[in-house]
Amino acid sequence: MTASILIKNQVKMHTEILKINPKNPQLSKIRQAAKVIKSGNLVAFPTETVYGLGANALDSRSVKKIFVAKGRPSDNPLIVHISDISDLKMLVDHIPNTAHKLIAKFWPGPLTLVLKKSKIVPKITTGGINTVAIRMPENKIAQALIRETGVPIAAPSANISGRPSPTIAKHVFDDLGGKINMILDGGKTKIGIESTVIDLSRKHPSLLRPGGISLEQLQSLIGKIALPSSIHERKSKLIHRSPGMKYRHYSPNAKIILIEGSKDKVKNKTLHLLAQFQKQGKKVGIMSISNTKYKSDMTVFLGNKLDVLAANLFNTFREFDVKKIDVILVHGINRKGLGLGIMNRLEKAAYKKIKID
Ligand code: TXA
Ligand code: MG
Repeated sequence: MTASILIKNQVKMHTEILKINPKNPQLSKIRQAAKVIKSGNLVAFPTETVYGLGANALDSRSVKKIFVAKGRPSDNPLIVHISDISDLKMLVDHIPNTAHKLIAKFWPGPLTLVLKKSKIVPKITTGGINTVAIRMPENKIAQALIRETGVPIAAPSANISGRPSPTIAKHVFDDLGGKINMILDGGKTKIGIESTVIDLSRKHPSLLRPGGISLEQLQSLIGKIALPSSIHERKSKLIHRSPGMKYRHYSPNAKIILIEGSKDKVKNKTLHLLAQFQKQGKKVGIMSISNTKYKSDMTVFLGNKLDVLAANLFNTFREFDVKKIDVILVHGINRKGLGLGIMNRLEKAAYKKIKID
C-alpha cells in the first residue's frame, strides 16, 4: 500500500507495511526494519501499549524526523526504548533505589521512568530538558527491533500530534502513511493506552501520566507517589516538568463532552444534551456506562471490564470519526486501577467536562 498524500514541506514517500508475527517475529523482517532505523529513518512498530514511531534515539537528525512527521511541538520529550537493563546505565546519570525496585518488578512492561539524563542523549530527544524518559517494552517485536538495531529507540505514539494513539497498524497508516518509511504490522496492541510515566529524577517520586501500570501497583512497592493536578487538567503548574501535558491529546475530530455523576443524573443529562444537539442537526455519539438504549447516531457500551475498555478506547474514538460524529457524550468511570489512566485520556481529550453532584 502506498499513501498518495502530499504534505507541506515534506516529500511524499512510500510507506512499506510489513506484516509480522507478534508471537515469533520473523528475523528477516526485523532486520529490514532495523536497517531503516540504522540508516536514519523512521519505522512504526507495535508495543504492548500502543504503536510507537521509532528512530535512533542517539542521533539528532533521525529524532528530528519524528517531530516533523508527527507535527509534534519540539519541547515535548520522547520516550527512549531499550531492550536490556544494561542499556540504562549509559543513558542516565544516576539510578535511584526506587528505580531499581520498579525495574525489578515491572520491566519489561508499560512503565516509563524519568531520570537525569547522561551526556550521550541528545537534547532534541528530551525536548531540551535534562531528564530522559526510559522504558523497556515487553512486546516481542519491539524488543527484537531494539536488539537488532543495536541502539536505543526514541518512540512517541505513532499518531499525528493530538490525535488518538494507534492500536492497530491501520491507525498508523491513516495518520502517517506517506510520511514514514515503514510500519511493522503486528496486529492489535494488548493494553491500548500508553505506559505509566513516573518521575524519579527528584527527591520525591511523582506520577506524570497514569497508564498501563496502576498507581496502586506502584505505591504498594515504593510508597507515596505525588499525583499532580495536571493528571486531570491540561493547564497546570506541572507543565514545565512534563511538557506533553499542556497540549490537547488523544482527540477524535468530534467534540467530547465528559459527564460525571450518579448513574441516574448522568443518564438524564445525556438525554437532555442528546435532544439539544440533535435539534441543532448534529450527529451525536455516546460512550455509555449503562446499557440504556439512546436514540443516538452511534452508542458504544463501555462495559465494566477496565482492561477491555482501555484496549478499545482509542479505536472507538477513531470509529466515531469514521461515522462523522460531531459530538460524543462520554460517561465518566471510577478512577481506580486502570480507570485512572482511562479517565486521564478522556479528560485530556475532552472539549468540555460536566460534573453533576
Ligand atoms: O506506551 C507508551 O509510552 C508509548 C509507546 C510507544 O512506548 N509511547 C508514548 O510516547 O506514549 P509519547 O511521546 O506519546 O508520550 C510520552 C509522554 C509525553 O507526555 C511526554 O511529555 C512525557 O512522556 N515525557 C517524555 N520524556 C519526559 C521527560 N524527560 N520528562 C517528563 N515527561 C516526559
Ligand atoms: Mg502520544
